[in-house]
Amino acid sequence: MTVLVTGGAGYIGSHTVVALQDAGQQVVIFDDLSNSSERAVDAVRALVGSDVAFVRGDAADTDMVSQTIVEYGVDAIVHFAAFKSVSESMERPMDYFVNNMGSLFGVVKAMGLTGTRRLIFSSSCAVYGEPKDVPVTEASATTAASPYGWTKLHGEQFLEQMALAGELDVMILRYFNPVGAHPSGAIGEDPRGMSSNLVPLLMQVALGHHDRLRVFGSDYNTPDGSPVRDYLHVLDLAEGHVAALAALSSGSGCTTLNIGTGRGYSVLQVVAAAEQVLQRRIPLELVDRRPGDVACIWAQTDLAADVLGWTATRDLTKMLEDHWRWQKAHPDGFGAL
Ligand code: NAD
Ligand code: WQD
Repeated sequence: MTVLVTGGAGYIGSHTVVALQDAGQQVVIFDDLSNSSERAVDAVRALVGSDVAFVRGDAADTDMVSQTIVEYGVDAIVHFAAFKSVSESMERPMDYFVNNMGSLFGVVKAMGLTGTRRLIFSSSCAVYGEPKDVPVTEASATTAASPYGWTKLHGEQFLEQMALAGELDVMILRYFNPVGAHPSGAIGEDPRGMSSNLVPLLMQVALGHHDRLRVFGSDYNTPDGSPVRDYLHVLDLAEGHVAALAALSSGSGCTTLNIGTGRGYSVLQVVAAAEQVLQRRIPLELVDRRPGDVACIWAQTDLAADVLGWTATRDLTKMLEDHWRWQKAHPDGFGAL
């Protein structure tokens, strides 16, 4: 099978390209490098030992995506290409609506023009907003709590309609909180600009780039007062895509799945685990809650286990060890090389 991976130079995309290549699939990376570097593509090529094809372009460009599908004989598409920051989406909503919906429409239109049916769509636990109950199941209530969340929720609904119309076979994967890196330390999360996520930030504190980690909220209704999330190793997530592609080959219609570990850790538990792994103290400051944050969310993962035969296997220690190996080797991401 030849798989087009839009956003394949990014964090989750690059790990998924490696997992797909390891599983024997041919891959074409399609990325405009708006939040990544061509050095990630080089690192992926070095890691898998083959010259993975790379096309630089905007996924909203239907002609370019169509040409790529035809040129490489693409059988299925994993669509990661999108902007991904909740807070940035509140500051620049129009950029998020245009890029995230434009790239999705561009890809799906190209699929129609070329007769390509199989699509995996990156959705997010953001579609659950503040859940009433945890763990959340795929049937839990959804809401558009931010422009970013809106693009994921409405992206899902658009794809459900396309599948219902018989145009596509789709797997919608709702990722929880991916962390970690490839165990080689050769690829990892390398955003343009500053990350707003917990694990990259706490490791930047450990590296001395910041003097302390601000813990956003210590008065939540959780065991230690800090918010609880379902952290997931990025390689488990990548392998989930390999399983989803296999399932998509034998199924049709539209299936929506939570992709998490099924267990939650609080911010303070993550910090304590990181202090063990890094063998150093992380200075903390307890500050006000971050606007828009939910208290607690983790996934019910039974459906993914049933449909994909996939469950996450790597624990929090492994996530932190692998993330640290990458971040220590690349304190400024690929940019410093
Ligand atoms: P990322 O920013 O590292 O990767 C996204 C990639 O897409 C980047 O390489 C970027 O250059 C590219 N891109 C963006 N717009 C594009 C366009 N119009 N055309 C071509 N390329 C484009 O992000 P990530 O963390 O790897 O996330 C991948 C996907 O997973 C996104 O859709 C994101 O919304 C979703 N997701 C991420 C998380 C997370 O916490 N990282 C959680 C849930 C869902
Ligand atoms: C985790 C916890 C923060 C930084 C985001 C998106 C979600 C999905 C996954 C895309 C929270 C706390 C963080 C810091 C802190 N992405 N924190 N100090 O917000 O759970 O989820 O990524 O789809 O949609 O919202 O992840 O890593 O930013 O935060 O205390 O400096 O760490 O308050 O409780 P989040 P995160």
